[in-house]
Amino acid sequence: MSCDTPLPTVESTLHESILVLTLDNPPVNALGVEVRRGLLAALDSAADNPAVEGILILGAGRHFCGGADIREFGKPPQPPALPELVKRIEACAKPVVAAIHGVALGGGLEVALAAHYRLAVRGARLGLPEVQLGLLPGAGGTQRLPRLIGAKAALELMLSGRHLSAEQALELGLVDRLGDSDDAQAEGLAYLGQLLASQAGARRTRDALALSDLAPQRAAIAAAREQAGKKSRGLLSPHHIIQAVEATLDRPFEDGLKEERRLFLECLDSPQRAGLVHAFFAEREVLKAPETRAAAPRALEQIGVVGGGTMGAGIAVAALDAGLQVTMIERDQAALARGRGNVEKVYDGLIDKGRLSAADKAATLARFSASIDYRALAQADLVIEAVFEDMAAKQAVFKELDRVCKAGAVLASNTSYLDINVIAQSISRPADVIGLHFFSPANIMKLLEIVVPAKVAAQVVATAFELAKKLHKVPVRAGVCDGFIGNRILAVYRQAVDAMLEDGASPYQIDQALRDFGFPMGPFQVADLAGGDIGWATRKRKAATRDPKARYVQVADRLCERGWFGQKTGRGYYLYPQGPRSASEDPEVLAIIDAERQRAGITPRTFSDAQIIRRYMAAMINEAANVVHEGIALRPLDLDIALIHGYGFPRYRGGPLKYADQYGLPQVLADIREFAEDDPQFWKPSPLLVALVEREANFDSLNHAH
Ligand code: CAA
Ligand code: NAI
Repeated sequence: MSCDTPLPTVESTLHESILVLTLDNPPVNALGVEVRRGLLAALDSAADNPAVEGILILGAGRHFCGGADIREFGKPPQPPALPELVKRIEACAKPVVAAIHGVALGGGLEVALAAHYRLAVRGARLGLPEVQLGLLPGAGGTQRLPRLIGAKAALELMLSGRHLSAEQALELGLVDRLGDSDDAQAEGLAYLGQLLASQAGARRTRDALALSDLAPQRAAIAAAREQAGKKSRGLLSPHHIIQAVEATLDRPFEDGLKEERRLFLECLDSPQRAGLVHAFFAEREVLKAPETRAAAPRALEQIGVVGGGTMGAGIAVAALDAGLQVTMIERDQAALARGRGNVEKVYDGLIDKGRLSAADKAATLARFSASIDYRALAQADLVIEAVFEDMAAKQAVFKELDRVCKAGAVLASNTSYLDINVIAQSISRPADVIGLHFFSPANIMKLLEIVVPAKVAAQVVATAFELAKKLHKVPVRAGVCDGFIGNRILAVYRQAVDAMLEDGASPYQIDQALRDFGFPMGPFQVADLAGGDIGWATRKRKAATRDPKARYVQVADRLCERGWFGQKTGRGYYLYPQGPRSASEDPEVLAIIDAERQRAGITPRTFSDAQIIRRYMAAMINEAANVVHEGIALRPLDLDIALIHGYGFPRYRGGPLKYADQYGLPQVLADIREFAEDDPQFWKPSPLLVALVEREANFDSLNHAH
């Protein structure tokens, strides 16, 4: 029998004496205001209805509940607040069961924690991922979960944000029962029926006893604090999570909830939360390129890779790891053997670390073949060229591909800078040619720039996005230009860094300032890791066409002339006496920089760390604005995601253009104009930045314009 549904987003149905409340708010049953109101009203009517003996909470569709409605964060709160609702569930006099399928995350798991009994069907995933959004579980999760499973396990879950399987949740005592079928409603009804038959009443998580032995709880908190001090530097919410869990030990439950609320609101108001939520939605928006809406992808089973060097081998591993068939082509048998060796090395490394068995390696490599004969690519659905960065070499490869590949095969280049339009136009099927710009190491780095030349078919672009999905990459659509999105911006902020170096800052101070800002490495550490020789070759190639009026800092050339290419040669900006981990500052490098200053007639001045960040970010934002202005990036958010996933930009700052909005665009423009007084050639305000300041608008307004 069907009762009156209080609101369309919570369906309420009576099954004999059990009231089934189904959250119905596609796609993930987020706990938006309508759902909260609906659930509260349904609970009230259940309490008053003598026909109801027990309550079963479920989710409609694929999931139990994906948590609070993230879109509501930062907007005026609307009652009932989630903590109130959750309290009401726990306070219910009649037994409440949560039956979980799909995911129960964040506020969704907090609803389940407030229920008196929990069941999960196989395949369900449970977690408190708030930390990934700069938050903490704000609906009693920090107080209830430790009481249920102890501080150590609760902290591990909340600080990692990871998802537990149903089986793991059972083992931890987070759920009481596993459902054998995948029908959460049937399983939940059976379970609650048994509970009612055995007269099991309401059982409240707030009264659970996992914390009764205090010593191990305190040890777990101390350990988490030490770990977070090292791993979560600069982040607010991990530290607040630990503080909230600590309150479970020395405060009564209600006081603990108040402390949780206070800490939650601090996180909610922080720019970090805004940056992380921006990144969450932006990662989903980048998938919605015009071509993915317009066309369906082509089939993707067999992948070809031409070139087995750093990138070709990494791309092959990424494709193998995704379960695809991979054929590698090299120019001769010796290079082919090296290419195969490069692939095997990755798996051997995993075997050495105990993360892979020899049998798994063999099973994976059974999908790998290698040849020097292009005809081995005849059946490939998509081929990625990763040979030397040289137009003639690439065109020769594409000519072969044009000759041997089947009709409809996607022909991609991993070029870093070259004009893909020129490559496309040199063969008979330009509509099949696209750029797939992976980042090194290609089996690990998440970013994949999908570079869209003029004549490419929408289907080919859609296939590239499909490949990204299969490889678990984050795809960002980019237009054709020198360096596409990321490398183009990198070239500009590197110039700003080099100018500061010559003007008086040391490479070590610059690196430290940027690490403190949140980058995992500073720009000179990155240069040493990537190897100075590649950039040196490019600079020499471009020397003839360089604008003679532009400032050119020669420090990097001086290091390269000495053969100091970075980690691989044991020294670069840093010394590496015992490999990469032994980096130390090099007085000889400082002497070279001094000599360069003298040669250029520069009197060195000091920079504060804040000044370094101002210049670095102004250069990055200004070129980023140009990239958006020229349509190379579809929207500011695409660029934010590219810099986060390809260049180590701190995720909690949301990307350079989210950061710019928070910093204030008038201030960015004022900074650029101030720096232009020294070097007007370099510091030219982007027309887009000027226009946005004039309109009193921000970059985010452009994210919603499409
Ligand atoms: N609120 C609002 N929208 C959400 C959402 C949420 N909690 N979770 C997902 N969505 C949206 C996505 O933005 C996406 O929208 P579009 O289709 O418009 O792009 C849509 O739902 C589908 O999401 P996915 O593409 O990610 O779908 P999926 O099936 O691959 O994954 C999921 C589903 C595992 C639930 C995943 O979306 C996810 O991890 N969501 C976030 C979960 C989360 O962090 N919850 C905690 C919220 S904070 C909280 O609850 C705090 C508190 O205590 C008060
Ligand atoms: P690499 O020098 O490590 O490898 C190039 C490989 O191509 C060599 O193994 C070589 O034998 C092979 N090769 C050359 N000509 C060939 C031909 N005609 N047929 C078959 N194989 C041939 O170079 P790397 O670093 O892998 O770069 C490859 C491409 O990827 C370049 O276009 C580069 O710009 C781009 N790229 C490089 C990145 C990096 O960090 N190294 C990052 C992103 C893109």
